[in-house]
Amino acid sequence: MEAPLPGLFLLLVPLAVGWGSGAVTAWATSSGSCKLVQSTMDCTGRRLSSVPGDLQGDTEELLLDDNTIWVLGNESLLSYYQLRCLSLTKNRLELIEPGAFLSSQGLHVLSLADNLLFTNYSLTAAAFSALPALRRLDLAGNHLTEDMVSVLVWNLSSLESLSVARNIIMRLDSSIFTNLTQLLELNLEKNYIFEIDEAFTGLQRLQRLNIAYNYLPCVVEFDLTQLRVLNVSNNAIEWFLALESDDLFELEVLDLSHNHLLFFPVLPRQSKLHSLLLKDNEMSFYQRLPNGTSLADVTVQFLLIDGNSTNITTVSLWDEICHSNLSSLRLLDMSQNQLWYLPEGFLAQMPSLTHLKLNQNCLEMFHLSEKDPLAMLAELDLSQNRLVELEVEVGARDVLPNLQLFNLSTNRLQALPPGVFTYTRKITTVDLSRNRVDLCPQPAVAAGAKSPPCVDIRGVKTLTHLSLAGCGLRGLEGHPFQGTLLMHLDLSDNHQVLSGDLGWLQDLALTLQVLSLRNTSLSSTTVDFSAFNSLAHLDLSGNSLTAFPSSLGALKLRSLNLRNNCLPALPVDVVQARLGKSLREVYLSQNPYNCCMLGWWDSLQRVEGLCIPDRQEVTCSYASHTLSPSALPEPVLRSCRWQTADVALLYLVLALPTCLTLLLAFAIIFLTLKQKLLKMVKSQCGVSSPY
Ligand SMILES: *[C@@H]1O[C@H](CO)[C@@H](O)[C@H](O)[C@H]1NC(C)=O
Ligand SMILES: *[C@@H]1O[C@H](CO)[C@@H](O)[C@H](O)[C@H]1NC(C)=O
Ligand SMILES: *[C@@H]1O[C@H](CO)[C@@H](O)[C@H](O)[C@H]1NC(C)=O
Ligand SMILES: *[C@@H]1O[C@H](CO)[C@@H](O)[C@H](O)[C@H]1NC(C)=O
Ligand SMILES: *[C@@H]1O[C@H](CO)[C@@H](O)[C@H](O)[C@H]1NC(C)=O
Ligand SMILES: *[C@@H]1O[C@H](CO)[C@@H](O)[C@H](O)[C@H]1NC(C)=O
Ligand SMILES: *[C@@H]1O[C@H](CO)[C@@H](O)[C@H](O)[C@H]1NC(C)=O
Ligand SMILES: *[C@@H]1O[C@H](CO)[C@@H](O)[C@H](O)[C@H]1NC(C)=O
Ligand SMILES: *[C@@H]1O[C@H](CO)[C@@H](O)[C@H](O)[C@H]1NC(C)=O
Ligand SMILES: *[C@@H]1O[C@H](CO)[C@@H](O)[C@H](O)[C@H]1NC(C)=O
Ligand SMILES: *[C@@H]1O[C@H](CO)[C@@H](O)[C@H](O)[C@H]1NC(C)=O
Repeated sequence: MEAPLPGLFLLLVPLAVGWGSGAVTAWATSSGSCKLVQSTMDCTGRRLSSVPGDLQGDTEELLLDDNTIWVLGNESLLSYYQLRCLSLTKNRLELIEPGAFLSSQGLHVLSLADNLLFTNYSLTAAAFSALPALRRLDLAGNHLTEDMVSVLVWNLSSLESLSVARNIIMRLDSSIFTNLTQLLELNLEKNYIFEIDEAFTGLQRLQRLNIAYNYLPCVVEFDLTQLRVLNVSNNAIEWFLALESDDLFELEVLDLSHNHLLFFPVLPRQSKLHSLLLKDNEMSFYQRLPNGTSLADVTVQFLLIDGNSTNITTVSLWDEICHSNLSSLRLLDMSQNQLWYLPEGFLAQMPSLTHLKLNQNCLEMFHLSEKDPLAMLAELDLSQNRLVELEVEVGARDVLPNLQLFNLSTNRLQALPPGVFTYTRKITTVDLSRNRVDLCPQPAVAAGAKSPPCVDIRGVKTLTHLSLAGCGLRGLEGHPFQGTLLMHLDLSDNHQVLSGDLGWLQDLALTLQVLSLRNTSLSSTTVDFSAFNSLAHLDLSGNSLTAFPSSLGALKLRSLNLRNNCLPALPVDVVQARLGKSLREVYLSQNPYNCCMLGWWDSLQRVEGLCIPDRQEVTCSYASHTLSPSALPEPVLRSCRWQTADVALLYLVLALPTCLTLLLAFAIIFLTLKQKLLKMVKSQCGVSSPY
C-alpha cells in the first residue's frame, strides 16, 4: 500500500510543474467556453489549470471537474462570493491555500474526489476550517491515511455527508470523526480498514454507513442504534454479532453479502430491518447434521477483550435468531451459501417477507407449510439447489397467495405437488428449466399402473411466463397448456419436444408473444407458425433449418434469431413480406450462407431501423473459403456473376451445337425415310394397278 506513493511523487511533480508554467495561457483561451445554465457555471473538461476569474460573480454552482488545476489559491474564488457548490473532481489538486474559502463561506457542497490532497493536507485542513456551513464533502480517491482524514475533518462540525472512499485508511478509532456530530452519512468504501474501535460512537445522528470493500474480519457488539443502513459487503467477516439489548435499533438495511459468514448473523432483537443481504457467504445451519445427529444445545462463547476487561458472550448458534424480531423483514437474500436445510419455523418469523432468495445453495428439500404461510411473498428463488422434492401442505389456509415469480430452475425435481398452484392467485412466472419434469396430462398408462409424476399447469390463468428449457421433454400429449394465457414460453434445449403431434403448441397460438425453440432439433417443416399472430420474439437458433420457414413471412415479429442453423440463404423477398415491415432485430450468424446468393443480405441492409447485432460474425462460404458477405473480394464477385447471372447464356452456348447436330440428324433421317416412303408408295401403287 505504501509502495506506490514514492512512484507517484516522481511521476506527478514534473507534470504539475509543466502545467504550472502554462497556466495563464491555458485559461485565457478556454474561459469563454464555460457554459452557464441558470446559476450553474459548467467548466467540466476544459483543460483549465486554474479557476477562471472573469465568470459571472453571482454563480452559485461552479463545476470544474476533469481539468488540471493543482492549486486552489487564496485568490482563486475571490469573485465567487455566492458560491454554494464547488466541484473539482478529477483534477491534480495538491493544495488548497488556507485563505481560499474566506470569500465563499456559504459553501454547502464541496467535491474534491480524485485529486492529490495527501500532499499538503495540513494546509488544506486549515482552508476547510473556514467553511462553517459545509454540509457535503467528497474526499474520495486522494491517497489519505486515517491521520490525514482526522486532521482534514477536525473542524467540520457542520458536515452531514462525508465520503473518504478509495483512500488508504486502515484503522479507525474514536479520535477520527469526533467533531462530526451532525454527520448523517459516511462512506468508507474501498479502503484497507481491518479494525474499527468505537470510531462511530460520537456520531449521534449517523444514519448511513458504508464500509464495503475493506478487510474487516468481524463485527461484534454492534450497537449503533440510530443507524439505518449498514453496508459491510465485500469484507472478510466471519461473525456478525449485535449487542444483546432490547433497545430498538433503527436499522433497516444490512448488507453483509460477499463475506465469510459461517452462521446466520446475530441481529438486533428489535429493529426495523427490511432488507437483509447475506449473498455469497459460507452460511449453514448446524442444528441438524447430515448424519442425523443434532447440535441443538451447542453454544459458543465469545471472549471479548478490551484493555484489561474481559466480557463473555454466550451464543446458542441457531437458537439466537429466535430472539430477533424479524417481523418487518421484506427482502432476505441468502443466495450462494451452503444451506442444506432451513430450521423449522425459520420463515414463520418473517411474515412480511416479499422476496426470498435461496438460490445457489445445497437445499435438498423445501417444505412449505401452513406454519410459514409466507402470505406476502411475491418472489421465491430456489434455483440451483439439489431439490428432489417440494413439499406443500395444502390445507385450509392459503399457501403463497401473493407469489408472482417462482424460480425452480436447475434442480432435480421430477414433479410439483398437485395443487401447488391452487392458492397462488397472482403467479405469473414459473421457471422449471433444467429439471427432469414432464407436463400433465401424461400418456395413458395401463390400468392399475401409477402414472408417472408430472407438473400440472392447466387452468393456471394468471401464468404468463413459463420456462421448460432443458427439461428433457418428449413430445407432449393432449393439452397441457389448456386454460393458461401464456405469453412467454421457453422450450429450448429439449431435443424431442417437437416430435409427434404439435396440437398442444397450437393451443397457445393466440396468446404467445415470446417463444424460444433454441436447440430443439427443429427442421424446416416441423412447425407451421402462421397461426401465431401475437408472436413478437422468436428464437430458432441452434437447430438444423435448411430453408427459411415460409410461414414466418406472415408474422409481425420484432425480433428473430436464426443463428447456428444450416441456412444457405434467406428468401430475397423477405423484406417485402409482412415480417420485413415489423422486424427490428435479427440474429443471423453461424449459417453456411452461399456467397453467390446474397441478394437477401443486400436487401436486409437497406431496411431502415433493422438491427443485426451479430453482423460482424455473419459469414458466407465460397469454394470452402469463409468470407464476410460485406467485403467479398472482386474475383469472388466476378465468379459469382458467372455462376448466377450468365448461367442461362452458358447453357445456351453449351446447348447450341448439340441442338444443331440433332436437327441435322433429324433432317437427314427424315429425308432418307422420305425417299424410302416415296418408293414404297410408288411400288404399292404399281401392285395395285393391274389394269
Ligand atoms: C493565504 O491566506 C492565508 C490566510 O489568510 C495566509 O495565512 C497565507 O499566507 C496566504 N497565502 C498566500 C500564498 O498568500
Ligand atoms: C506541498 O507539499 C509538497 C510536498 O510535500 C512540498 O514540497 C510543498 O512545499 C508543499 N507546499 C506548500 C505550499 O507547503
Ligand atoms: C480548527 O479551528 C481552530 C480554531 O478555529 C484552529 O485553531 C485549529 O487549528 C483548526 N484545526 C485544524 C486541524 O484546522
Ligand atoms: C473538535 O474536537 C476537539 C476535541 O474533542 C475540541 O477541542 C475542538 O474544540 C473541537 N472543534 C470544534 C470546531 O468543534
Ligand atoms: C453496498 O455497497 C456495494 C459497493 O458499493 C454496493 O454494490 C451495494 O449495492 C451496496 N448495498 C446496498 C444495500 O446498498
Ligand atoms: C456426525 O458428524 C459429526 C461431525 O461431522 C460428528 O462429530 C458426529 O460424531 C457424527 N455422529 C455420528 C452418529 O456419526
Ligand atoms: C462488559 O459488560 C459490561 C456489562 O454488560 C459492560 O458495562 C462493559 O462495557 C463490557 N465490556 C466490554 C469490554 O465489552
Ligand atoms: C486495569 O483495570 C484497573 C481497574 O479495573 C485499572 O486501575 C488499570 O489501570 C487497568 N489497566 C490497564 C492497563 O488498562
Ligand atoms: C415485533 O415487532 C413488531 C413491531 O415491529 C411488534 O408489533 C411485535 O409485537 C413484535 N413481536 C415480538 C414477538 O416482539
Ligand atoms: C431463475 O434462475 C436462473 C439461475 O439462477 C436464472 O438464470 C433465471 O433467469 C431465473 N429465471 C427467472 C424467470 O428469473
Ligand atoms: C442442446 O440441448 C441438449 C439437451 O437437450 C444439451 O445437452 C446441449 O448441451 C444443448 N446444446 C447447446 C449447444 O446448448
